Amino acid sequence: MNVLSQEKISEIRNSINIVDVISSYIPLTPKGKNYFGVCPFHDDTNPSMSVSPSRQIYKCFSCGATGTVFKFIMDYENISFMEAVKKVADLGGIVVNIGKVHKKQTHPELHQIYDLSLKFYINNLNTAAGKEAREYLNNRNINEEVIKEFQIGLALKKDMLSKILTQKFKPTEVLKSGLIGKNDYGYYDLFYDRIMFPLYDLDGNPVAYSGRIYNRQDNSKYFNTRETEIFKKGELIYNYHRARDEARRKNQVIVMEGFMDVIRAYTIDVKNVIATMGTAVTDVQANLIKRMAKEIILCFDGDEAGAKATMACSNELLKIGVTPKVIRLENNLDPDEYIQKYGKDAFRKKIDNPISVMDFKLSYLKNGKDLNSSVDQAKYINELIVELNKIDDDILKDLTIKKVATEMNVDESLIRNHLEKKEVKPIRQSEPPSVTTKYEKAESGLIYYMLKSPEVITMYNNKVTYIPTKEYRQLAREISAFYKNFGFINEASFIDYIECDSELMETIGKINKNNTKETYTLEEIEDYINVIKDYNVKEEIKRLTNRMKNLTDPLDKAKIAEEIVGLKKGV
Ligand code: CTP
Ligand code: MN
Repeated sequence: MNVLSQEKISEIRNSINIVDVISSYIPLTPKGKNYFGVCPFHDDTNPSMSVSPSRQIYKCFSCGATGTVFKFIMDYENISFMEAVKKVADLGGIVVNIGKVHKKQTHPELHQIYDLSLKFYINNLNTAAGKEAREYLNNRNINEEVIKEFQIGLALKKDMLSKILTQKFKPTEVLKSGLIGKNDYGYYDLFYDRIMFPLYDLDGNPVAYSGRIYNRQDNSKYFNTRETEIFKKGELIYNYHRARDEARRKNQVIVMEGFMDVIRAYTIDVKNVIATMGTAVTDVQANLIKRMAKEIILCFDGDEAGAKATMACSNELLKIGVTPKVIRLENNLDPDEYIQKYGKDAFRKKIDNPISVMDFKLSYLKNGKDLNSSVDQAKYINELIVELNKIDDDILKDLTIKKVATEMNVDESLIRNHLEKKEVKPIRQSEPPSVTTKYEKAESGLIYYMLKSPEVITMYNNKVTYIPTKEYRQLAREISAFYKNFGFINEASFIDYIECDSELMETIGKINKNNTKETYTLEEIEDYINVIKDYNVKEEIKRLTNRMKNLTDPLDKAKIAEEIVGLKKGV
């Protein structure tokens, strides 16, 4: 439920200019009466997104994303409608009291199980039995404060958690959590004798653990919760929720491999850090990282595996148009070890002097090659060309070509001739509109203008009894209800009224994509309405004809035939 009135939400929306807010996320350039930028909601390098200061709405001509400032922040930051409203209120200096806002949780019981398990593990660490684990953390220079901040806990003897959880929750849910197993003897804990590091979803809810051994031999240093309904490994990033604001403030985010590295960075007050947690970065993660900040610095482990991971991660980022920077740590150290060995200042110096992704790749490709041999020289240049083709950044590309040409004593043109010609992407006007039939066109056109004009809403109310397509029908009804309620219509207020409901927003996106003309004539609206009516009549005739087929009584048949004739006359 919406705890703020429609008026208050409008006041908040009007307290800022959508152009100012969106341009704090993506660069915008003025053109005519609107502003344009590269849409952050799909892969693109063209400025397909337009932001209208007069309508206080943005709209992407390519992917159809549209909405008010709230919707933009919701999608950009992965937060709820109310959280976005709160953010904008803060920007506009409006005090709102909506308390702590929570996203709707889809699996409340699983979340409750995790909340309870977290309390349980945290408590274990403080008991007498937790002494050895506390000593381990102490030896690693992880102090009380850090333990508290990162909610580090401890799984002790077997089967303690399973008893608590099965008493309180449905066994099916408990088994779904990935914390408890079941065999012929009953339920048992999957984690024991491990220091428990909670992993969080993007909103900061604990949804999994990584458990580290500390007092015994075991094949796996870390044991992680398997994937569950609330934990999809490839879709989350360690420390995302804590780092998000700091990353935005600094417009910089540092990506590490392990969560221990992140925790260590925190101790020296570097808080715009996240971790990929040792697996290949997925496109979902890459897109999340892309949205965190403009400057992205990869700071993986100093060993060979870390260099390989840097290659893989930077390629995933380059694919979506991000050119990251790179930090390499000497002596195979990981950030945790490096910070402990060389201290805060040395590490900060590293952050302040990252190398370009191409400089990193140059040295990476040189590894294991004898650059005095022409065989390896050719191999090096060929591999380099492959990498050059991956980057969008023309300046960096040019600098790298010059550097390598000098270094290898070859002609620049030799390298340039081997580069793929950069395809100039056509501005996406050529994309086929998604509306196909003339009926859909009419529906979409009618609703487009309903969102702009009370006159059109009144025509809809008086003349249209039924809109055939479900999604359009629902939207039209909502618009009409809004107008009845508030006595005015404007797109921005309407969108906020429906709290950016995703289905309705998708339909609005579709409609906006297929209609662009600001003004309408009454004839056009009449036309739309007639097409819709015509469609309804045809459907009704179809329905009656079918019914007639199933009838046997000649009198009944005649009655329906008459109805059909009547309808046909009207067409
Ligand atoms: N990892 C894992 N399972 C393992 C090893 C690693 O899940 N057996 C993941 C963990 O998420 C870890 C990340 O990969 O954070 C990086 O691994 P590694 O560099 O080995 O961990 P460290 O951060 O060095 O951990 P520690 O210092 O405790 O050894
Ligand atoms: Mn380590």
